[in-house]
Amino acid sequence: MKKNVKAINKPLSGEIEIPSDKSISHRAVMFSSLAKGRSIIKNFSKGADCISSLNVCRNLGVDINYINETTIEINSDGEYNEPKAPLDCGNSGTTMRLMSGILTGQKFNSILTGDASLSKRPMKRVIEPLSLMGAQIESNEYKAPLKIFGKELKPINYNSKLASAQVKSCILLAGLFADGETSFTEPYKSRDHSEIMLKLMGADIKENGLTVTINKSQLSPLNFTVPGDISSAAFFIVAGLIVPNSEITLKNVGINPTRTGIIDVVKRMGGDIRIENINNQNGEPIADIKIRSSKLKSTEISGDDIPRLIDELPVIAVLATQAEGQTIIKDAADLRNKEADRITTIVTALKKLGADIEELPDGFIINGKTTLIGGCELETFHDHRLAMSYYVAGLICEQEIIINGFEWTKISFPEFENLMEKLKIG
Ligand code: S3P
Repeated sequence: MKKNVKAINKPLSGEIEIPSDKSISHRAVMFSSLAKGRSIIKNFSKGADCISSLNVCRNLGVDINYINETTIEINSDGEYNEPKAPLDCGNSGTTMRLMSGILTGQKFNSILTGDASLSKRPMKRVIEPLSLMGAQIESNEYKAPLKIFGKELKPINYNSKLASAQVKSCILLAGLFADGETSFTEPYKSRDHSEIMLKLMGADIKENGLTVTINKSQLSPLNFTVPGDISSAAFFIVAGLIVPNSEITLKNVGINPTRTGIIDVVKRMGGDIRIENINNQNGEPIADIKIRSSKLKSTEISGDDIPRLIDELPVIAVLATQAEGQTIIKDAADLRNKEADRITTIVTALKKLGADIEELPDGFIINGKTTLIGGCELETFHDHRLAMSYYVAGLICEQEIIINGFEWTKISFPEFENLMEKLKIG
């Protein structure tokens, strides 16, 4: 689907509710499916990725029903049944990587498949540590489909080179089925939603700095409301900062410190961002975020910033084109392994729009502030976050842009365009 976007020549204003967090929704449906009893998840994501997780759990024999548009009820006898067919993870890396951790410890065999984009993404990062636990997984040169042979697992102490919440969660979930203590250590702290939720569900899990340890546990059912997704809020944060004279409020946003890199970066850039009404919802902090368009300066984004804003980097690149000076983003090589190679694609797209941006092996350098000219067509390469980042850039381009493949926004944020329209009306 092609989407034409042009500058609105008026401020964005008003208040919107940010929809459900994708990472937390995945975990809520998967973990509840392993808990004996009835779980209720409110504000479950409508994104296609989380629906993939829900369908995989259903195909493992778990009874899952919608009570209303965003509330699901999960009835489980505490374990999965052997699936009758391959389990389709769609476009979702989180589904495939987390489920592989759970499925290796089951008494049956299973196959995880994915769409063209997911079938190109690296799975060695989970296959290697799971194999150390005694898992047996056949793959297509470390890519999907993954054929998983259920095995008795043994615990490991794993030192990961990557700060990846997907890999960490995969190993912790396998650890739920291994006899003894499994530990996972990462170089920087990645999002800790699995740790928070597993604790809430009674798992024997402990955190000590960058190490998490888990013992074999049976989970208890969950009664949980998913916060709004800061990674979805990011598109509005950037739009509010760069569309002149804007003033917007984003309600109900998850502000777990392992996810708030974007807020810190915006503050470093001199952006007017305020966090209000901080609250705690089932162990996850939430707040309202207020943004006013601002004069911005450049910054460096590297090291332990990266896992705290990895998914926001494409739209942060758009932001940096409007900041005075040189913004450097480095230590983000794993951005090449997302739904698309988000380094080459965002650099190519922003160059096409007229930005001064240079590709690095592990990031990019942007010189600002530049006028974005537009007047061209951009490819999304099946990547939802590229589609929405281009849209935000289109709001300040001199000439209309065309986004090819805009329908991919459905993966994490089907409500994106409607909410943007609401702020355009004000
Ligand atoms: C996610 C972790 C991150 C992130 C992805 C969701 C998660 O991936 O990019 O969108 O839910 O755990 P990595 O663990 O590969 O960094």
